[in-house]
Amino acid sequence: MRFIGNKEKLVEWIYSKIQEKEIKGKRFFDFFAGTSNVGRFFKTKDYQVVSSDLLYFSYVLQKAYIENNEIPKFEKLLQSIKIQSKTLFASELDLVYGYLNNLQGVDGFVYKNYTPEGTKNLEQPRMYFIDENGKKIDAIRQKIEEWKIENLINENEYFILLTVLIESVPFYANILGVYAAFKKDWDVRALKKLELKPIKLLQNEQKNYAFNQNSVELLDKFEFDIIYLDPPYNQRQYAPNYHLLETIAKYDSPEIKGVSGMRNYEKQKSVFCNRDKGLIELEKILQSKNYKHLLLSYNNEGIMPQDKISKLMKKYGDLELVEYDYLRFKSNNNGQAKNKKYIKEQLYILTK
Ligand SMILES: C[S@@+](CC[C@H](N)C(=O)[O-])C[C@H]1O[C@@H](n2cnc3c(N)ncnc32)[C@H](O)[C@@H]1O
Repeated sequence: MRFIGNKEKLVEWIYSKIQEKEIKGKRFFDFFAGTSNVGRFFKTKDYQVVSSDLLYFSYVLQKAYIENNEIPKFEKLLQSIKIQSKTLFASELDLVYGYLNNLQGVDGFVYKNYTPEGTKNLEQPRMYFIDENGKKIDAIRQKIEEWKIENLINENEYFILLTVLIESVPFYANILGVYAAFKKDWDVRALKKLELKPIKLLQNEQKNYAFNQNSVELLDKFEFDIIYLDPPYNQRQYAPNYHLLETIAKYDSPEIKGVSGMRNYEKQKSVFCNRDKGLIELEKILQSKNYKHLLLSYNNEGIMPQDKISKLMKKYGDLELVEYDYLRFKSNNNGQAKNKKYIKEQLYILTK
């Protein structure tokens, strides 16, 4: 998934540093989970993963990919719904996608608030999804909720289906990368008929946990061998940039405002989007008794200065800073042209 700060491409490198430094212990805290890609990687290495994020849609992904250790069978559901075509070798999950992909669209919250036809009375109608895809998202989201209420799917199956939807929506969203604004002309990808995309679930031998809260509150609840920190690195809050994924995940018909139809995100603001508050919070984490090693991903453009981070961390143990030149496509001010730019990705490794 396209997500600011997604570490999918860096996680192997992070792991190689853990191995080089011979950091032992399998209890891993993915403190700023986001897409859950870091937690997923460590789950495949048989770590016990605890993860959390302020965003609910991140929690949905964590429940399916991190906490869930089962291969879903959808037993009750498949007894109750009629499946059209039973392809040889199709998994139970494939059968359920197939069913959801064939639903008739409905005029729900997404259609009414984020498509041109649904918002035609606004001065500037919203163009996040074409009308047909907006209706399709509503139909799929409502069906998943209906199955949960009717007890036809269990908790794991519910979060897996929500994950399938959340992972598919970005392929059809008419945006430049984040949901704070929609494009004023149609991107070709947004014009395609929405189809749910397969996802890859993971199993390991551990009991893993997912949370939707400020991760600082979890520091007293577990003991960790490794805490991995990947905080926001500039003033941009995450919640407004991903408001639509949040609304589709919660489907709570929120009050929305402005040209982009944004939900309130007062309770989801991160202090790491502020230099001084971020440093104070970082020290709170460092003071915890419940970890052995702490890894912080940051970069040379972050709002917390390198010298301040290093000085703070050195108070709590041995510190090493490793860097990696990373090619990033950076939007210019009006978000149009993209320039290639090397950013120094940094990994602070603290051992108590
Ligand atoms: C740089 S992103 C993490 C990206 C993630 N490592 C990945 O690979 O997708 C930062 C994340 O931290 C979350 N966040 C910010 N402050 C938080 C806090 N105090 N507790 C939990 N999550 C927080 C944001 O919502 C955002 O998803």
